[in-house]
Amino acid sequence: MKTSARLWWQDGAIYQIYPRSFQDSNGDGIGDLPGILSRIDYLATLGVEAVWISPFYPSPMADFGYDVADYCNVDPIFGTLPDFIRLIDALHTRGLRVILDFVPNHSSDQHPWFLESKISRDNPKQDWYLWRDPAPGAGVPESRPPNNWQSHFGGPAWTYNPERGQFYYHSFLRQQPDLNWRNPEVRKAIYAAMRFWLDRGVDGFRMDVLWLLIKDDQFRDNPLNPDWSGGGSSFGRVLPLYTADRPETHEVVAEMRAVMASYPNRDAVLIGEIYLPLRDLVAYYGFDPNTADLRGADMPFNFHLIQTPWNADRIAQLIREYEGQLPTGAWPNWVLGNHDQTRIATRLGEYQARVAAMLLLTLRGTPTLYYGDELGMTDGSIHPDQVRDPAELNQPGIGMGRDPERTPMLWDNSPVAGFTSGQPWLPVNEGAATRNVAAQSSPDAPRSILNLYRKLLALRRQHPALHAGAISYVQSNSGVLSYRRILGDQQFQIFLNLTDDIKRVTSEPGHILLTTILDGEGADVGGITILEAGEGLLIALKNPHIPDPPNKP
Ligand code: GLC
Repeated sequence: MKTSARLWWQDGAIYQIYPRSFQDSNGDGIGDLPGILSRIDYLATLGVEAVWISPFYPSPMADFGYDVADYCNVDPIFGTLPDFIRLIDALHTRGLRVILDFVPNHSSDQHPWFLESKISRDNPKQDWYLWRDPAPGAGVPESRPPNNWQSHFGGPAWTYNPERGQFYYHSFLRQQPDLNWRNPEVRKAIYAAMRFWLDRGVDGFRMDVLWLLIKDDQFRDNPLNPDWSGGGSSFGRVLPLYTADRPETHEVVAEMRAVMASYPNRDAVLIGEIYLPLRDLVAYYGFDPNTADLRGADMPFNFHLIQTPWNADRIAQLIREYEGQLPTGAWPNWVLGNHDQTRIATRLGEYQARVAAMLLLTLRGTPTLYYGDELGMTDGSIHPDQVRDPAELNQPGIGMGRDPERTPMLWDNSPVAGFTSGQPWLPVNEGAATRNVAAQSSPDAPRSILNLYRKLLALRRQHPALHAGAISYVQSNSGVLSYRRILGDQQFQIFLNLTDDIKRVTSEPGHILLTTILDGEGADVGGITILEAGEGLLIALKNPHIPDPPNKP
């Protein structure tokens, strides 16, 4: 049922922790849950509402935890279940919510379900994964995959299993077999695992690759991609018509939502990792036109800021289109970075990364921040012999590697940036001696990007118009993006200079609440205002004369 009351996940920001890289507590060079606990003061004072922790379940770590061997426990690398309980209790005590990363599409090939499924064609779990006979034809069976489906990490998505004389399907690595979501027992087992964590108090899930859960029941070949040039990953050779965004997926998402709804006072949030065009993405809210209810994910992750060129026209258009396509009652969200994407400061440089921070934290909808982006962390440089990511190891040299955006969090200017007392699993970024939490929190660095993030998060919390207001007057004018946030008689004007040139903008009377270079706060504005290259302004308007617009830009 829709509710008009506001929920915690609508008002606050989410902070993603990649646990391998946040804080190590035992000197093995890999971050862990007690490490996160030891940084609780940092998390509690940053100004975010929730932390989302990437997978820490028992795993052979073929894909660093996105290959789950037990959905209801903690891998010894990360600690123990009691460590998790201590962490969630402490985070709750400090007023932070906890969102788990959950991986329903595939398990590890070492999960007991798969170990059982693969031994024969007639065991109780024989249908828990996607098994198919070799395609007809000449040649040994292992050379005849059932169809042309490709792995996201390159190469065929089918691996032959001699014990069954069949192939199994894997959207990603061969160590990550896809579960058969058409099998009701699989659904039951995954929903039971969700309940396991809900019973331990978690406040929601970020569901991994939610749009991939169901595959075509006839296993039809995917159409060839007419735009494939032959370069890059073999994944691009075909269009994922039969392997992604199948209509039946929405039914599964509705069932997941029902699992969450069975914890009525929790308001647990269901977030979906979904890379799709806007129109298909917003369908994951599951709007039911007959009842006007939302039956899908609370927030299908919106990655379009990551994918849209950094250009005021394009971003203004994106905001308008996204807002315009949201179904009635659906709550928007925005993401700037994650453990699979080039960091924003690498993509744009520090000044535009500051502008991006103001954009993310003043748009309408829940923002998700990726650890380290609040320091302006850039991608690390990874020497070929330091590569750890299977996406890179599978297809060397074509830029699929995600190690650069997973380097250790930078805490202080000690040799390993305070991340570990041992050898870090990925190298610490160059420049860590000055770009770190301690340096950016010091009184000598009042204008650090970390302070910008803290101030933006605090202002967003403080002013209802910034977390709950409408967004309107979304415009772009010679490289400057502008919009207003409005609630009742409170109005804020945001100007963001997405260019490297000085710009002049015209503002109604008001005063500056914040600038991205942390200079000039409190000053009155009105009429012509100068924006430095790569500068953003957040202005509180005095007596705005324009009446409240509807809740759409
Ligand atoms: C998601 C995760 C990514 C992982 C993949 C396979 O896209 O974000 O890190 O490799 O799923 O589980």
